[in-house]
Amino acid sequence: MSTHRIAWLPGDGIGREVMAAARVVLDGLELDAEYVPGDIGWELWCRESDAFPPRTVDLLKGVDAALFGAITSKPARAAEAELDPALRSQGLTYRSPIVRMRQLFDLYVCLRPCRAYPGNALNHREGIDLVIFRENTEDLYAGVEFSPVPPELAKVLEALAEPFRAFSHLAGDEYAVSCKVNTKKGSERIARAAFEFARSRGRRKVTIVHKANVVRATDGLFLEEAKKVAADYPDVACDDANVDAIGMWLLKNPLGYDVLVAPNLYGDIVSDLCAQMVGGLGFGCSGNIGEKLAVFEPTHGSAPRHAGKNKANPIATILAAKMMLDWLGETEKAARLDAAVAAVVAEGRVRTYDMGGDATTMDMAKAVAEKLPVAAGA
Ligand code: IPM
Ligand code: MG
Repeated sequence: MSTHRIAWLPGDGIGREVMAAARVVLDGLELDAEYVPGDIGWELWCRESDAFPPRTVDLLKGVDAALFGAITSKPARAAEAELDPALRSQGLTYRSPIVRMRQLFDLYVCLRPCRAYPGNALNHREGIDLVIFRENTEDLYAGVEFSPVPPELAKVLEALAEPFRAFSHLAGDEYAVSCKVNTKKGSERIARAAFEFARSRGRRKVTIVHKANVVRATDGLFLEEAKKVAADYPDVACDDANVDAIGMWLLKNPLGYDVLVAPNLYGDIVSDLCAQMVGGLGFGCSGNIGEKLAVFEPTHGSAPRHAGKNKANPIATILAAKMMLDWLGETEKAARLDAAVAAVVAEGRVRTYDMGGDATTMDMAKAVAEKLPVAAGA
C-alpha cells in the first residue's frame, strides 16, 4: 500500500494541463502515493447538474489530501443556459465547487504564500515574502443571497434597520441582497492559524486586514476577535489596515509586510494582488486546510481561452504540490521541489508565455523535474 492516498482533481480548462505537469514533478520525486482521480468540473454541471457530485464528495472523505486544478465558475443565469436542456427549469443553481468543498469539509484556512523567486523578471520587487491567511468558509461567501428579495425579508429589514428605508420602496426584483456572515469562532480560528504560523516560522508581524470603519458589524467582529488572539502572541508584532489601504501599501512597500490575515473576500482580492507581485497568477499557490483534510490548488482559474493549448504556466500547481508535500510531512521532497523551481526561474532559460518565453506547460514541468536535487543519501 502507498504511504499517501491523494485525490486527483484536474477539473476543467487549463486545470487538466497544469495537473498533468505537476504529476511529472511528483513522479520525479518518486512520491509514494496512490493518486485517485475524481470527477469535478464544468462538464459535470452541464451533463449532471452537479459540478461536484456526491461520488467525489465521498472520495474526499477517504484521502489524506487532494490536489485540484481549476474549475470554470459562471454567474447563475449563464450557468443555467449551459445546462442539459432536459435539466433546465428545475430551479437548479450552480455554486462554485471549490467554495462548496471548502464549506463542506470545513477547510477554514486558505493559506497563500507569495514569495518572489530570485531573478524572476516578473517580480514587482526582489525579496517579497508574504503569506496570506484567508478565512475560507464564511463572510460574503456564506451563500446567503436573495435575488429577487422576498417581501418577508424586506419587511424584517425595514423594521430592524433604519438605513434600509432608502431601499424599501423598491420591488423585490429591483435589487438583490447578499449577506456577509462572520462568526466569532471563524474569525478567531483563522487569526490563531496566522499567529501560530508566524510564531513557528519566526515571522515578525501579522497584519489584520478589514474595513471595520464602514462595515462595522462583521469586520468589527473580525478585527476584535483577531486582536484578542494577538494578545496571546506577544512575541509576534501585530498591526491592522483597511483593505483599500493595504492594497496601496502592499504595492508601495511590500517588504514592510509579512503575514496577513483577512476575511474571505478581502483575502481573495489581496491574494491576487500579492500573487501578481511575485510573478502573477502563474506563481500563486494555495492550500485549503481543515482539521482532517487539505486541498491544494493553484490560485488561478480555469482560463478557458487558454485551455488545450499546452501553454499555461504550471508553476502555480507545482508549488501547490509542494505545499501538499509539506502538509503530508514530506518536507525533504518539498524542499527539493522548491529548490528545482528556484533553479529554473533563476536560470531563466525555460519560460512560459507569461514569463516572456515560448516554453510549453510540459517543457516547464520537465525543466523543473530535471532540476530536482538528488535525494540525500541516494
Ligand atoms: C480563489 C478563486 C475562487 C474564490 C473562485 C474560483 C470561486 O478566486 O480561490 O481565489 O473566489 O475563492
Ligand atoms: Mg481568487
